[in-house]
Parts: sequence; C-alpha cells; structure tokens
Amino acid sequence: MRTAVCPGSFDPITLGHLDLIRRASALFDRVLVCVMSNGEKDRGMFPPEERLRLARLAVADLPRVEAELWTGLLADYARARDACAVVKGVRGGGDFDMEYQMAWINDSLAPGLETVLLPASPRYVWFSSTMAREMIRYGQDLERYLPSAVAEEIRKGMR
Ligand code: PNS
Repeated sequence: MRTAVCPGSFDPITLGHLDLIRRASALFDRVLVCVMSNGEKDRGMFPPEERLRLARLAVADLPRVEAELWTGLLADYARARDACAVVKGVRGGGDFDMEYQMAWINDSLAPGLETVLLPASPRYVWFSSTMAREMIRYGQDLERYLPSAVAEEIRKGMR
C-alpha cells in the first residue's frame, strides 16, 4: 500500500487544501493529512486540536483519507506511518523555492522519502490560510474559501 502525507498547519483547512488532498488520494492508496503543531510555541488562530477536528470534518467523506496531529518533524511522522511521499501544492515560484528546500531537508532526514509537488488548481491559486483567517476576522462569506462543514463549524463558534 502506498501512503502519502499531506502536511500543513491547516489553520484552518481551506478549499485549496481539500483540492490537493483529493488529487493526492487519486494518486496514492492512502493519504494522511498531517496537522502539524510546534507544541507550546504554536500561535495559530485555532488551537491544534481544533485544526485537527476541522480537518477531519473536511475529509470525512473521503474514504482513504485520515487526519492526525503531529508535533515534531514531518520526516519522523512519514517514517512512523511508512509513507513513501509527501504531497504539497505549489501556487507559484515562491512556494516552489520553499518546497524545493524542504524536500531536500526531508530527504536528508528520511532518505528516499519523495516530495511530490502538485500545481495548485487555477481556481484556488490565490487561496491561503492567511487569507481565510482574514475572511473569518472580517465576517465574510466563508463558504467561498472553506469546506462547507468547516465554514459551518466556524460560524457556530462565532455565534
Ligand atoms: O501550512 P504550512 O504552514 O505551509 O505548513 C508547513 C509545514 C507544517 C508543512 C512545515 O513547516 C513542516 O513540515 N513543519 C514540520 C517541522 C519539520 O519537519 N521541519 C523540517 C522541514 S523544513
């Protein structure tokens, strides 16, 4: 079974992330969405456990996709789950430069762990969690940016 990891902060998970996860699940037998937290230094809008809960809601109808929380190195997570690849989305040159560096750091930590870079779909190319957080702060229509179950939960939390 070929397992891929889709890692990220997912603060919160967006439609852009979900598109990438769906595309990764078409390429691999199993996809693990790894919600990364840097422990006590984590300064996200949403606490890590909430980010995980929202990510699980977003992927609930995808049969070969699971989400987990991880505090530590991505390479250690990938090794612990016997994953052969990390799948990341690239929206442009800036993302590519960063992902290229991270790919080789991860390869040096877990030799043979491949990084698969998928070009962001044009309709999500301007999506980011940073932008989603701004839309949440300013009370915009969240369904445009977030999976509907996630948008609904966030709205409930704000009531
Ligand atoms: O959603 P993001 O913020 O782009 O995700 C970045 C993330 C969490 C995937 C990246 O920072 C990461 O892999 N962090 C885990 C720590 C780690 O493994 N560092 C070594 C590789 S640079």
